[in-house]
Amino acid sequence: MEIFDRISSQLVDWRERITRLKENHGSFKVSEITVEQLYGGIRGVPTSVSDISYVDAHEGIRLRGYTIPEIINLLPRMDGAEIPLVGGLYHLLMANEIPTLKDALDVEKEWQQRNRVPDYVFDVLRRLPADTHPMTMFSMAILALQSESVFAKRYAEGLAKSDFWKYYLEDSLNLTARLPVIGAFIYNLKFRQGQFISPDPSLDWGANFAHMIGKGEDKEYHDLVRLFFILHSDHESGNVSAHTSHLVGSALSDVYYACSAGINGLAGPLHGLANQECLKWLLELQAAFPDLPTRPQLEKYLSNYLDTGRVIPGYGHAVLRVTDPRFTAQLEFGKQHMPDDELFKLVSLVYECLPPILAKQGKVKNPLPNVDAINGTMQFHYGVREFEFYTVLFGIGRTLGLTSHAVWARALGKPIERPKSLTTRMLEEMVSAS
Ligand SMILES: CC(C)(COP(=O)(O)OP(=O)(O)OC[C@H]1O[C@@H](n2cnc3c(N)ncnc32)[C@H](O)[C@@H]1OP(=O)(O)O)[C@@H](O)C(=O)NCCC(=O)NCCS
Repeated sequence: MEIFDRISSQLVDWRERITRLKENHGSFKVSEITVEQLYGGIRGVPTSVSDISYVDAHEGIRLRGYTIPEIINLLPRMDGAEIPLVGGLYHLLMANEIPTLKDALDVEKEWQQRNRVPDYVFDVLRRLPADTHPMTMFSMAILALQSESVFAKRYAEGLAKSDFWKYYLEDSLNLTARLPVIGAFIYNLKFRQGQFISPDPSLDWGANFAHMIGKGEDKEYHDLVRLFFILHSDHESGNVSAHTSHLVGSALSDVYYACSAGINGLAGPLHGLANQECLKWLLELQAAFPDLPTRPQLEKYLSNYLDTGRVIPGYGHAVLRVTDPRFTAQLEFGKQHMPDDELFKLVSLVYECLPPILAKQGKVKNPLPNVDAINGTMQFHYGVREFEFYTVLFGIGRTLGLTSHAVWARALGKPIERPKSLTTRMLEEMVSAS
């Protein structure tokens, strides 16, 4: 397996660099933490190291050092496709290098060979109450697969620590190969009256998902889902899903346990679920006007809305202080493929009008849009209109990042995490003694 060899060949160097840092500078102080940060969700405090991705406040995400436009430009794609293969993105995250077309196709081939989902997983999903949220179904499907973990079996037999990552990689390829099948099954069970479609071996991972939800002929949608999965793959290791998954994995819980846990975090409305909220908000805004509003009409609507004390979904970010490049990438796709879509026109108009109003209000640290301000609109245009499902799409993409972090955490021998907590009394005493 190519990806295995590429990781293997880099490990000695990575391990040496980290050992050098720890031995020569182990007591170097990276940061301090304030009382406000302790009570404020540890916001902004460096608590982990990851070389897979980094979010710069003024530039946005870099995956393995590459910005979103660079990634879209540099990753290989199939003939006739506008957006690169997701297999190439996985190679980049895992193997830390821009893949050739052959590298990307090798990952796609691995996925093709490993994508069979055991029937018991579908049985579990079928037996859930009809109103079960798709994210619950998605997380449960991943967890149901845990009995397939090669790492868990090998660990029980006795495994050297230096070999842990090899079986994490095996599990990661097996799990990620099955995600489009699982996602499509959930969509078809809930929203397409159980019309299931088998994967097509001639299609890549992204296009296959589209095919399995009945959009096999829509080549533009194939490109959109590839773009969606790539853009949602990773966003540094401090966000809720990445952090949760990493923490669970640090106890040597296998990739299935770790990813299911991460997906549960993604299901929260302050995290991944925000994408369904955004579309709901946009549709309400659209319904308030018979036609596309004029700028003054929209500005008045937005100001009145903010005066009610509610947040406008899709705007603001905990780290970013620029327009999220993942928003921009989708905006560009939309300008090319759906310039006349009424909802897309509205999204573009909100982008023109809202930031100055939010900035004038003086509260938000970042008045600009994040990825969620547009991704539902794109899905809606191609007929995927069930908002409840949008976070599963996010989860399919995000699991690519979660598994990459998991493999590298084991490869670099990261230990179990155990931060320390204090009591309020202790803090009061520390403060009064200072
Ligand atoms: C993303 C988000 C959770 C970041 O939170 P944060 O880091 O606490 O944001 P800020 O520090 O800029 O918030 C400062 C103030 O601005 C307000 N604010 C932030 N984003 C806002 C928005 N989109 N609309 C209106 N008010 C907003 C906050 O509610 C807060 O008000 P308060 O002081 O009265 O509590 C926040 O911007 C938000 O709720 N956005 C909308 C939901 C969303 O898009 N989520 C997806 C994130 S990827």
